[in-house]
Amino acid sequence: MEQYVIKGGNPLVGEVEIGGAKNAGLAILAAAIMTDETVTIDNLPDVKDINVLLQAMEGIGVKIQRINRHSIKMNSSLIEDLSIEYEFIKKIRASYYLIGALLGKYKKAQVALPGGCNIGSRPIDQHLKGFKALGADVRISHGLIMAEAERLKGNHIYLDVVTVGATINIMMAASMAEGTTIIENAAKEPHVVDVANFLNSMGANIKGAGTDVIRIKGVTNLHKTEYSIIPDQIEAGTFMFAAAVTKGDVTVKNVIPKHLESITAKLLEIGCEVEEFDDAVRVVSSKALQHTHVKTLPYPGFPTDMQPQIGVALALSEGTSIVTESIFENRFRYVDELTKMGASIKVEGNTAIIDGVSGYTGARISAPDLRAGAALVLAGLSAEGITIIDDIAYIERGYEDFDIKLKSLGALMERAVTDKEIQKFRFKVG
Ligand code: UD1
Repeated sequence: MEQYVIKGGNPLVGEVEIGGAKNAGLAILAAAIMTDETVTIDNLPDVKDINVLLQAMEGIGVKIQRINRHSIKMNSSLIEDLSIEYEFIKKIRASYYLIGALLGKYKKAQVALPGGCNIGSRPIDQHLKGFKALGADVRISHGLIMAEAERLKGNHIYLDVVTVGATINIMMAASMAEGTTIIENAAKEPHVVDVANFLNSMGANIKGAGTDVIRIKGVTNLHKTEYSIIPDQIEAGTFMFAAAVTKGDVTVKNVIPKHLESITAKLLEIGCEVEEFDDAVRVVSSKALQHTHVKTLPYPGFPTDMQPQIGVALALSEGTSIVTESIFENRFRYVDELTKMGASIKVEGNTAIIDGVSGYTGARISAPDLRAGAALVLAGLSAEGITIIDDIAYIERGYEDFDIKLKSLGALMERAVTDKEIQKFRFKVG
């Protein structure tokens, strides 16, 4: 099992380049199968979740050609199988996007129920409600979601909760339905807009993405396109908080600062300086961090995927902070690990009450899920002494070259498998 071994205490300083958004990429890859023509996708992050989805797509007959590490060409004219139930696809959440895409194009799909990070119960009732509203017959049987329709017909769909997944999935299927679909109470996340822009570049007719009402006029055919995925808001936010907790000075490049506003606002509140440029933000942390309160909310609110990272910063801040998680109920699993490093946090239901401490001490901990794992790396980088983080495979599902990028900013860390390698690192860093 691979681990990160980290010697904390070095301020991170320098510039880091952010990759394409994982969650936009997953949806865009699925949407790309909706045309028989060849699609070129650029700025794809080279992370496990994306590669698992590509493998599953190849498994049903999609032809994928890697142009370079971040670009592919794909052709889906020879899809011969509308059933996706490989073991590995169950591990990623975004497998559900293949239902919307296949249903839209072929009016039929069978996909294994999705897995993903264990951050709480993750129902898909709103996805299914949307497909049914478009006229599909939807059943769950033998662990598969089966959706089928003779024809899909546009409809008025009101989402009971703001959900990124259901908004995108319904948008995809509705793009190739007859007539107009209106999605109300739609999610407004940047990647919803990115997927809509991508579908429109293939000839779809989607208006209003980025607001809470999306109007989709169905078309019969989608065509080829070349598209570059937006930068990853969460990867960027993670590096911004890495600067904050290590007392560093990091310029995060290739970002859309507007997408980072809620993160920037919180960094300013806790005493960091943030400078915005056209496509970069610089975070400088030179003063003692101050407490604040934060509640996760759908975009433009503070993202749930940044909650563990801000939690790690607040546990190092002067005073008492309250963090309320309103999207997923199981997102405080990093707290037990952080406690081993000296944090003082009490979780009650969906609230964490954090009494700031003056510093962490290195410990042996494990990554409970993707974002919590990344947050614990930040804790290790700011801690006194050595931290060993197990289960880093979670982190690598969503961060490309995380250790390499951190090391380029001055982090002292290595990837290790054996105790001998850990010893070697200890010896090297003294
Ligand atoms: C996506 C992201 C995930 C992020 C989350 C919120 C991917 C692959 N994952 O997850 O990283 O944390 O958005 O920004 O893009 N819900 C229902 N019924 C449904 C669907 C969702 O009740 O049918 C609830 C969920 O339990 C949750 C809330 O709606 O409480 C938001 O979920 P959603 O936005 O759909 O998250 P995901 O698409 O699973």
